[in-house]
Amino acid sequence: MTSVKESWKEKGYIDEPVPQGVDLKAEIRRMCKEKNAIIMAHYYTDGSLQDIADFVGDSLALAQKAATTDAAIIVMCGVHFMAETNKILCPDKVVLIPDLNASCSLAESCPAAEFEAFVKAHPDHKVISYVNTSAATKAVTDVVVTSGNARQIVESFPENQPLIFGPDKNLGAYINSVTGRNMLLWNGGCHVHERFSVEKLIALRKQYPKAKVLVHPECRGAIVKLADVVGSTARLLKYAQESEVKQFLVVTESGILHQMQKSCPDKEFIPVPPDDSTCACNECNFMKLNTLEKVYNTLKYEWPQVDVPQETAEKALRPINRMLEISKRLGL
Ligand code: 13P
Ligand code: SF4
Repeated sequence: MTSVKESWKEKGYIDEPVPQGVDLKAEIRRMCKEKNAIIMAHYYTDGSLQDIADFVGDSLALAQKAATTDAAIIVMCGVHFMAETNKILCPDKVVLIPDLNASCSLAESCPAAEFEAFVKAHPDHKVISYVNTSAATKAVTDVVVTSGNARQIVESFPENQPLIFGPDKNLGAYINSVTGRNMLLWNGGCHVHERFSVEKLIALRKQYPKAKVLVHPECRGAIVKLADVVGSTARLLKYAQESEVKQFLVVTESGILHQMQKSCPDKEFIPVPPDDSTCACNECNFMKLNTLEKVYNTLKYEWPQVDVPQETAEKALRPINRMLEISKRLGL
């Protein structure tokens, strides 16, 4: 095995050109078989990765899949916190991420030390953290949630139990509004979902009066108010698949359009643009760091690997497992 070059370490990914004549997709699949590796991809990654992956899902489904896979290697095409979650759930497996720079602005908006101080200042509160957090932040959490189970997990606490919810203030405010709770919210946000334009959405609704508006709850409240459906990426996809309606305005990262269009070729999906650009799509620059070339190299060299310090991993495992147990019990 080639040792990791200093230049790769500096960059956080392997920039070796793929040898000429190599059938990238076939070679990736061949290496997966040879190494007993599984490729998991989030809906926001490029369509080429979703097509080559063994499993594509939302954050909840990806964690559930990691918890049950018998593969020796997991290649996580997503962002760093997802790979960390996989490693925490599967400490004996090799977890690879094609590019170590694939961070998440929401996770970054909640530094563990500051969150811990906030938690300590409210000792009577139980702590709920969105999965979009670092392992160190999860380690000071009572239960982890995703957008696919946040409402039900919040409702599983007694009504008089004071709760902290971090880091996404938009998701937290949305859950407060649908549950009638008054959770204390951390002031974090996702730079992708926060930049959707209310004006452009209103204009598109006029242009497509029959379209249903599909909104991810990481969006601002003014956007959520205009939604027909609010939910995780998997929920929005399922709604589009099962609906009789033929047109949808999609207010989440535009990578999801790949699966929507693929599974519903007779329906029209219109991406709602951000307010700061003329481009039609709102992309997560972190998710888009994943490429087929990087997946090829990461499998070939088994680098970059994601590791979590043992003590942090042990503390973070408890709230992740609690989430998985509650989700299983509720059939989520
Ligand atoms: P879900 O796929 O769980 O809805 O999450 C969205 C997201 O922002 C992932 O980073
Ligand atoms: Fe993080 Fe937002 Fe990108 Fe999701 S879309 S990975 S929340 S930065």
